[in-house]
Amino acid sequence: MTPSQVEANKQQFLSLCREHIHREGIEKVLAYLENSDFFTAPSSTNFHLNEEGGLCRHSINVFETACKLYEHIALPAIRSGQSPFTEEIPLESIAIAALLHDVCKVKFYHKVEKWKKDAHNKWVSYPGYEVRDDFPFGHGEKSCLMLGWYMRLKPDEMLAIRWHMGMFDMAENGSSQRYAFYAATEKSALVNIIQSADSLSAKLLEQTTVFV
Ligand SMILES: [Fe+2]
Ligand SMILES: [Fe+2]
Repeated sequence: MTPSQVEANKQQFLSLCREHIHREGIEKVLAYLENSDFFTAPSSTNFHLNEEGGLCRHSINVFETACKLYEHIALPAIRSGQSPFTEEIPLESIAIAALLHDVCKVKFYHKVEKWKKDAHNKWVSYPGYEVRDDFPFGHGEKSCLMLGWYMRLKPDEMLAIRWHMGMFDMAENGSSQRYAFYAATEKSALVNIIQSADSLSAKLLEQTTVFV
C-alpha cells in the first residue's frame, strides 16, 4: 500500500465513522485512534493485509461486507419472517461493530527484521512484524474493553465484537466457550454478520504480502 493509499483509507475510515456513528464518545475513540498506530498498523503478521495500513483497510472491508450481508441476506429474511431474528439492526450498530472490531490491534504489531533462506540457501533479511501485546486481555474482549473506555456499547455490539473471530480462536478452548459462542450467535443477528464479514473479508478480499 502506498502512503497515499494509507492516507485515503484513513480519511475514508474517519468519514464512515462520522457518517454512521453518532453516539456520545465516538470523537474520543477517533482521537485515540489518531494518536495511535491504528492507521498505519498491518492487519496481521503473516496473513491478511500484513502491510502498512492493513488494519484500517481491513476494518473498512469488514464494514462494507457486513453492509452487503445485512442488506442482501439478513434484512430480506427478517422482513419476510423467514429469519429466526425479528428485529432490524441499526446501521450505527453495524458500523460500530465492523469498523471498530479490531481496535485491540492498536500498539500490537511491531516492525522487526526477519530472516529467511533464499533460493541459494543463503540467509537474507526482510522487513516483517512481530506481536508484542502490552495488555494481553484477549482479542475481541480487549476491543470491547478499549471501546468501553470512551463510548457505551450496546449488548448486541459487545457480543458481535467479542465473538467476531468465531471458531478461529477457539481451538484450544473448552466446551463452555463453544457453548457461549453458539448462544451468542442465537441471541444476536449482528454476531453472525460481523463474524462472517470478518472471515469473508480476510479470506476473499485481502492478500498476503510475501517478502522475497
Ligand atoms: Fe480480529
Ligand atoms: Fe478482523
